Amino acid sequence: MKIKIAPSILAGDFSRLGDEAVKVEKAGADILHLDIMDGHFVPNLTLGPQAVEAIRKRTSLFIDCHLMIDNPELFVERFIKAGTNNVTFHVEVQDDVRGMIHRIKELGANCGMSLKPDTPIEAVFPYFNEINMLLIMTVYPGFGGQEFMMECLPRIRAARKEAQMLGINLDIEVDGGINGGTSQLVIEAGANVLVAGTAIYGADDVAEAIRKLRGEK
Ligand code: DX5
Ligand code: ZN
Repeated sequence: MKIKIAPSILAGDFSRLGDEAVKVEKAGADILHLDIMDGHFVPNLTLGPQAVEAIRKRTSLFIDCHLMIDNPELFVERFIKAGTNNVTFHVEVQDDVRGMIHRIKELGANCGMSLKPDTPIEAVFPYFNEINMLLIMTVYPGFGGQEFMMECLPRIRAARKEAQMLGINLDIEVDGGINGGTSQLVIEAGANVLVAGTAIYGADDVAEAIRKLRGEK
């Protein structure tokens, strides 16, 4: 599977978010990862639909809003109207998971599903046929710049095995502590979409950092 790189703008300069989007688009990114946090589901606050709309105007990259918020059903329509192409919500916050998937698709976006490191990976298996992307957190969500949790590797393997068993080419994404070293481990384990904040926005040469994450020279 093609390796796709999704820079997380969380590690960018928040006074110039539009420029930061343009920068990674020019450098060869595949997806723009926007971390949406509400101060409840995670102990941090970031962006709302207004910011997403402003960034949307500056880039044609495929945008994924990673919703780390409680009650995502209250906001999903606004994020899609703001121009996100994919909405990723956390399985932990939703009683009616299937209803949420259908709602996102009905509103015209792709649907991603995420889970925290402590949530059993089997919790997302029943939805593999309905989602467009699975996002396996490899740190506790809330902040950039954390260290990759090695204990998440078997979870990636288990998810890829399940997808293969079902005969689905599911996009399996990882998020948290991904850099030139851990990228190889997660790719070997079966991930094909890599989110990276610090490793990309912290690099002097962003295009080179993206190539490195893909495993190219
Ligand atoms: C963390 C966010 C990540 C974060 C990754 O809760 O979901 O997307 O920005 O940052 P790095 O790559 O620095 O670990
Ligand atoms: Zn994220």
